[in-house]
Amino acid sequence: MPQEQELRGGFVGTTVLVDGTVRRTPTSPYVRQVLGHFADQEWPGAPRCLGSDAQGRDMFTFVPGLVPWEYDERVAAVGSLTELARLVRAAHDLTAGHRLAAGAEVVCHNDLSYRNTVYRDEGRLLRPVALIDWDLAGPGRRVHDVAHLCWQFLRLGPGRETDWAGPRMRAVADAYGLAGTDRADLVATVLWWQDRCRQGIEQGAADGDPAMVGLCRRGVPQEVRAAQSWTAARQQELTAFL
Ligand SMILES: Nc1ncnc2c1ncn2[C@@H]1O[C@H](COP(=O)(O)OP(=O)(O)O)[C@@H](O)[C@H]1O
Ligand SMILES: [Mg+2]
Repeated sequence: MPQEQELRGGFVGTTVLVDGTVRRTPTSPYVRQVLGHFADQEWPGAPRCLGSDAQGRDMFTFVPGLVPWEYDERVAAVGSLTELARLVRAAHDLTAGHRLAAGAEVVCHNDLSYRNTVYRDEGRLLRPVALIDWDLAGPGRRVHDVAHLCWQFLRLGPGRETDWAGPRMRAVADAYGLAGTDRADLVATVLWWQDRCRQGIEQGAADGDPAMVGLCRRGVPQEVRAAQSWTAARQQELTAFL
């Protein structure tokens, strides 16, 4: 039996590395198609799906690098954020107008987070090289992913200063090339995500989903609520930076 090495940073499933490939709970046919599309385009910013193993788990290429799953302030350095925004832009541009976007603007990742990003550690700079964990991908607006990115990578919430967060959000919007109305909607979309995320966890827990019950036990809904209050109180101030 080849040895299985547990990969850290997952919120939900158990992901392991076996024989140089990642094995995890099966994803949806839609997500396989999205990853297949990126592979067809020879885009290196996402893992390749390699089918399933004897145990019915999905197999993916392992992207070597650093996944800063415990958070590393370097992910919020402007140079790292702008590279990340360009990576997300590339994913979006590859899916804009494609049937996988199903009439929406693009295919969104919907779970952009430092836990789902592989970086190359260049010392002062963490350079993002790939986005992983596409389980929640689906048709959406460009601003959806940009807002989720800002929330997660900047850890918008109690303790953050508006003067620190605002210019970084602007740098992300600029590097992505976020257009007029999307820019105006950016902070409102962060609030929308915070609401959706908290409600999703609470509903999942009420339905008995063990992963969501676990998140509730760890107080995640309260953390998200505090982040949402923080964002709501600063909506105008943050928008002024954009
Ligand atoms: N293709 C990959 N290349 C490198 N690391 C990976 C890959 N897939 C997963 N990982 C590692 O495993 C962790 C959990 O995998 P992930 O797909 O994010 O599962 P979960 O749905 O539980 O969040 C990630 O945070 C990352 O550290
Ligand atoms: Mg993950």
